[in-house]
Amino acid sequence: MNTLASNAKPTSILYLDGVSVSFDGFRALNSLSFVIEPGELRAIIGPNGAGKTTMMDIITGKTRPDSGEVFFKGVIDLTQKDEAEIAQLGIGRKFQKPTVFESHTVWDNLELALNRKRGVFSTLFYRLTAEDKARIEEILSTVRLMNRKDDFAANLSHGQKQWLEIGMLLAQEPELLLVDEPVAGMTDAETAETAILLKEIAKTRSVVVVEHDMGFIRDLGVKVTCLAEGSVLAEGSIDFVSADQKVIENYLGR
Ligand SMILES: Nc1ncnc2c1ncn2[C@@H]1O[C@H](COP(=O)(O)OP(=O)(O)OP(=O)(O)O)[C@@H](O)[C@H]1O
Ligand SMILES: [Mg+2]
Repeated sequence: MNTLASNAKPTSILYLDGVSVSFDGFRALNSLSFVIEPGELRAIIGPNGAGKTTMMDIITGKTRPDSGEVFFKGVIDLTQKDEAEIAQLGIGRKFQKPTVFESHTVWDNLELALNRKRGVFSTLFYRLTAEDKARIEEILSTVRLMNRKDDFAANLSHGQKQWLEIGMLLAQEPELLLVDEPVAGMTDAETAETAILLKEIAKTRSVVVVEHDMGFIRDLGVKVTCLAEGSVLAEGSIDFVSADQKVIENYLGR
C-alpha cells in the first residue's frame, strides 16, 4: 500500500493504489498501483492472466477489491459505487466482443446509445434535436462510419462493429474510456486506423487501452504499463518497457 506519491491522487482521473483481489486463493491482482492523468491515453500490456481485464472489472465495479484504493477524479471512491453508478459517473467500458444491435442501422445504434443516456421515460417522447443529429454525425466521422450510416450493423466488418461500439460509448460522453483488446481479429488496416481513432478520442477524454498487438501499441506512441501476476512490472515509453529484462522474460520473450 501507499506505493504511489499521495500528491498524485488529487489531480488524477484514475488512481489505483495497492489494489488486491483473490479468486479461490489465487491472487489475480497483487497490490496494483498506477495513476492516469486527465486527457491521457495509456496502453496496458502483459501476459495472459496478468490481471488486465480484472483491473477493468475493479474500476467499473464489476469486481470488488479485497484491499486497496480506487479513486476517480481524485475524490470519488469507486469501491463504494456499483456498476450503474460508475457508468453514470462517466466511465465507459468496451468489452472484447462487440455488442451492437445487428438488426438496426449504424445510425439507429448511435441514436439508441444517445437516448440511453436520457433514460427510458424521456426516450419515449424524445425527438432528435439538430444538436443530437450533429453529435451523431460527429461520432460517425470519428469512428469512420459516415458512409455506412444507413447499413445494418450486421453487414459491418468485425473491425467496423468494434468502431460502432466505441461510437456508442462516445454517445454517453464518458470522461474515462476503458477498452479491452479492441484490435483482436481486425485486419492490419483496421488495426492501424484504430490507433489513429483512439488518439483522436483521447483529445477529449482519458482512454485506457489493453492490447497484445505490439505493433498497435507502438503506433499509439504513449506511456505503456506492463502488468504481470497482478502488479506493475514496468512503466514508461514503449522502448523503455520493451527493453526491460523482466518484461522480456515475462511477456515479450515468450
Ligand atoms: N471472476 C473471476 N473468478 C475467478 N477467477 C477469475 C475471475 N476473473 C479473473 N479470474 C482469474 O484471474 C486471473 C487474471 O485474469 P484476467 O482476465 O484479468 O487476465 P488478463 O490479463 O486480462 O488476461 P488476457 O490477456 O488473457 O485477457 C486469471 O487467472 C483468471 O482466471
Ligand atoms: Mg483480458
